Amino acid sequence: MTFSPTNTYFSRKADQVLGEVCSLVGHKPQARARQTLFKMVMLLLLCVVLPLTCGHQEESSGPADRFVCSPVINIPKLACSGHDDNSCLDACHSKIEGLERHLDKEKKKIADLEQRLSSLEGQRVRAGLGSAADPGLSCKEIKDTVDSAQDGLYHLRSQEGIVYQTYCDMTTADGGWTLVSSVHENDMYGKCTAGDRWSSTRGSTTNYPEGDGNWANFNTFGSVELATCDDLKNPGYFSINASDVMLWHVPNNTPLSQYKSEAYLRYYTTDGFLRQYGGNLYSLFKDHFPIVYKGATGNGPAIPITWDNGSEDLLKSLLAPNVLGEVTPGFVHFCVFNNERAPHAVCPGLKYNGGNVEHACIGGAAYWAEVAPRQCGDFAGKDWDGYGTHTGWSSSLLELESAVLFFYR
Ligand SMILES: *[C@@H]1O[C@H](CO)[C@@H](O)[C@H](O)[C@H]1NC(C)=O
Ligand SMILES: *[C@@H]1O[C@H](CO)[C@@H](O)[C@H](O)[C@H]1NC(C)=O
Repeated sequence: MTFSPTNTYFSRKADQVLGEVCSLVGHKPQARARQTLFKMVMLLLLCVVLPLTCGHQEESSGPADRFVCSPVINIPKLACSGHDDNSCLDACHSKIEGLERHLDKEKKKIADLEQRLSSLEGQRVRAGLGSAADPGLSCKEIKDTVDSAQDGLYHLRSQEGIVYQTYCDMTTADGGWTLVSSVHENDMYGKCTAGDRWSSTRGSTTNYPEGDGNWANFNTFGSVELATCDDLKNPGYFSINASDVMLWHVPNNTPLSQYKSEAYLRYYTTDGFLRQYGGNLYSLFKDHFPIVYKGATGNGPAIPITWDNGSEDLLKSLLAPNVLGEVTPGFVHFCVFNNERAPHAVCPGLKYNGGNVEHACIGGAAYWAEVAPRQCGDFAGKDWDGYGTHTGWSSSLLELESAVLFFYR
């Protein structure tokens, strides 16, 4: 009996295949997959490897004739050397090929199992993160963890540990947007009265140069389901570390389930500007552009926006006709002073280039010097030439009777 090169080749090949089986067994897959794998390999050994009996022969100087690949598996080594005839070699060859195919199938099954395991783990997280029992830090964190997360209500936890519920937009431009506030004008005729939380609820007065100060304090008010019926400010406003904002213009009294579909203007920034200003509007206004009557800073930044619903033309068709010559649509502009040095917190959807800011921008301090208190309130002087008349310096009725919702991402 002699070893032909062909014999040796098949022996090696068999060794190699069994070696792979061994390394698969030796490798420690995740618990559930591992048990299944172990069963599969045992089955494979019993049904395929053991009946492979073409003879058994090793040169005495050769390697040990058994594989020892784990404490439990001890596989008889394959060899065709006992029978030198071609039929045996052929049989060996085809059995080895069969083994290899089998091995490939097993590997694929294991890969599938591992995939299923990790998707199950994902689902376990989905059931938890964003629930009352496991609040997220922001909608972005939830979306980053659970890619399939849908628009809707989630529980979040502020840096200080306050748990609150809010709306997450999980789909616009890849989602992860947290609703943090809304500016709602409850009474256009009430000039800096109850409900004017984003300017002053204490009258038009220079005694409070910052008004109620809510753009830059830790006060919270309102609730997510009333964001179009009243002002909203949740702890996310000052505790989320964000990069961009998204604004929705939603008609007053729209129910939560329709905020998105009823928002006739929806747009967001993409340049990550908030990172330069402390990660949220609280820091932007507190540390960079305080909303203070006759404040020392200049105007704040005007950030370009991407439209999600609506357009520059739609916005222009809703603004007071007289402001059109003083604005550039396609931005969101923060802390903009008017001719009389009264700051406006936000110009939604536009950059204000002139001095009659009070007819297009919202929120502010407590004193508008021109004709106090006529311009004092959350929507300032949007009714200058009549309530919703859409003439002169008055905006359209729709704009006057819509809340502006603010999201962070
Ligand atoms: C906020 O997020 C930015 C990344 O966007 C990070 O560099 C920064 O350290 C974070 N700040 C805080 C206070 O967590
Ligand atoms: C855009 O706004 C209009 C007006 O509210 C609305 O009818 C439409 O459904 C919105 N479009 C999308 C894609 O949501």
